[in-house]
Amino acid sequence: MLINTEDSRGRARQNLPRFVFDYIEGAADDGHCLRRNLSDLAAVELTPRVLRDTTAVDTSVEVFGRKWALPFGIAPTGLNGLVRPRGDSLLAIAAARTGIPFALSTASNMRLEDVRSASPDGVQWMQLYVMHRDMAGQIVERAARAGYQALVLTVDVPVSGNREPDLRNGFRVPFKPSVKLAWDVMTHPTWSLRMLPGGAPDFANLTAAGGDAGSANAQAALLARAMDRSLVWETLAWLRGLWKGPLLLKGVLHPDDARLALDHGVDGLIVSNHGGRQNDASPSAISALPRVVTAINGRIPVFMDGGIRRGGDIAKALALGATAAFVGRPALYGLATDGAEGAQAVINLLAAELLRTMTLLGATSVSALPGALEGGGDQFT
Ligand code: FNR
Repeated sequence: MLINTEDSRGRARQNLPRFVFDYIEGAADDGHCLRRNLSDLAAVELTPRVLRDTTAVDTSVEVFGRKWALPFGIAPTGLNGLVRPRGDSLLAIAAARTGIPFALSTASNMRLEDVRSASPDGVQWMQLYVMHRDMAGQIVERAARAGYQALVLTVDVPVSGNREPDLRNGFRVPFKPSVKLAWDVMTHPTWSLRMLPGGAPDFANLTAAGGDAGSANAQAALLARAMDRSLVWETLAWLRGLWKGPLLLKGVLHPDDARLALDHGVDGLIVSNHGGRQNDASPSAISALPRVVTAINGRIPVFMDGGIRRGGDIAKALALGATAAFVGRPALYGLATDGAEGAQAVINLLAAELLRTMTLLGATSVSALPGALEGGGDQFT
């Protein structure tokens, strides 16, 4: 029975080979940042207001002119095809069915056009890693043509984080067979049988099948997570020239960077430490959020991700000034448990928890949530 997202995590652990589960769970170095994401969220207090009419509670939110049924979306995660074949489109379908957005990773295992056409009515954002600028430019143009509604440039991966379980498991892309990996796969026959028809997933956005010149270079760079480290604030003008829709930066934690983003005409920020997978000394996303929100002062929407495991966590992020939150791992737990239905079950769980929390708080709309910060939201300032 699925009572909470932790149950879904337990199912994912059973269903997936160890190397895949460890890749999802992966945190940098000693996992301090990952744990801070969780413990700082746990420490936020929301104070209920009583004797308010809560017969109707509205969880919807409007973002860039589109209505989301719920104030959260699915964060971009690479290699979703390792969890389930066509995992990217299964997540996009689950998101569209529940009225929330889905962000597709550059490191997806399906072509962005195919994910878009699998759920043409859903809100879909494209996440961008820049390994080579010509290749990134092609992805941006393809995303615009396919109807992605926002572009999310991830800025916290100048180099890959140090995730030691992947090293210990011998997990790397492209896959190199080993006795250890073979044993891991053989002892998870359900996963292996599902994988058989498609074989090992590749970075479909970057392969020759994507119709891109120079793709071998970009593919190799993504495999090595070798980003273009010469990317700076001024480079955003180049992206602006290619992308006319909303442009967001993901991975901003410092309020001065938030101000620079405003100066450079960015349309939205995602306060994030990449789920604790990059710099282990980073502050938790929830603790960094209020300082960024203050710096932005309502001029552009500010989102957050990192550590959301309950609907109540979403309420906390919104209370501290986020327009909406994103979830990474919990969506993958759902996907591993039961494909699109499993992801949908996780979304529905989070939605039910959020609704209950808002009702308990006497908050009938998401805009009322900051009122639940009795201390004025200064826990982290
Ligand atoms: C990620 N994340 C990520 N972010 C991104 O911008 N591009 C990517 O390709 C990936 N890939 C990725 C893979 C996996 C397995 C995970 C768990 C995460 C980070 C992701 O978008 C998000 O910031 C975090 O997952 C949020 O933290 P939680 O919700 O997982 O705690």
